[in-house]
Amino acid sequence: NENNIVIPVVINVVYQHANENISDEQILEQIRVLNEDFGRLNPDADGAWPQAANTDLQFQLANRAPDGTPTTGIRRRYTSYSNFSTYDDVKFAKSGGIDAWPTEHYLNIWVCNLEGDIMGYGQLPGGPAATDGVVIDFQFFGRYGHTQAPFDRGRTATHEVGHWLNLFHIWGDGDCTIDDMVADTPDSDEANHGCPKDAYSCGGKLMVQNFMDYTDDACMNLFTQGQARRMQALFATGGFRSGFLR
Ligand code: ARG
Ligand code: ZN
Ligand code: CA
Repeated sequence: NENNIVIPVVINVVYQHANENISDEQILEQIRVLNEDFGRLNPDADGAWPQAANTDLQFQLANRAPDGTPTTGIRRRYTSYSNFSTYDDVKFAKSGGIDAWPTEHYLNIWVCNLEGDIMGYGQLPGGPAATDGVVIDFQFFGRYGHTQAPFDRGRTATHEVGHWLNLFHIWGDGDCTIDDMVADTPDSDEANHGCPKDAYSCGGKLMVQNFMDYTDDACMNLFTQGQARRMQALFATGGFRSGFLR
């Protein structure tokens, strides 16, 4: 629609083994998931929560490199590192990764082998510019055939991009008194896992379907109107990402 904000994305694939050098198709599938989830076009959207929202945020692989030349929006590099931690080595060429394209104009997504069972992590707005972006393990990027159940619907990237767009975890990383700064997400005192049915806490029904919880991919299906407004505010005059789109 005409209110859409279209965010240019660059995918930085850092691999040692062939299976970590994921296909263009797997990447395109992840971009499709982001557009479905943020546009509330996801096939599993339901009527469970009336505040569920289309965020009007959309994602497109960059078609211009920083120097203006045409690009696929996909960069690839072989690395001698067998895996990466959450200490951001993957974001720098000097430590086996790929340097970001200017983070004031591109959403940088790094795809690599993350150590242990880390699926991904995202930097909130306001952190260092050079590391602004999200990192996703290659086994959880894209959906179905390429990814591991129960995190096989591309929602790790949806969740991490939510952080990049200023969203906190729905339970606010604390007890019932700690808020996620969004009025229309119910209070919650801890992360939910799996897909609890009719779960209650903090005096109300828990929104286990929210992308910013820790439930399984098949359980999650919504952002709220309040979350949508919080994300959109970044691109408004005075917002942290107001200079993003040119
Ligand atoms: N644990 C990760 C984080 O804190 C992501 C969880 C994503 N959940 C999912 N169902 N894919 O950012
Ligand atoms: Zn998170
Ligand atoms: Ca809330």
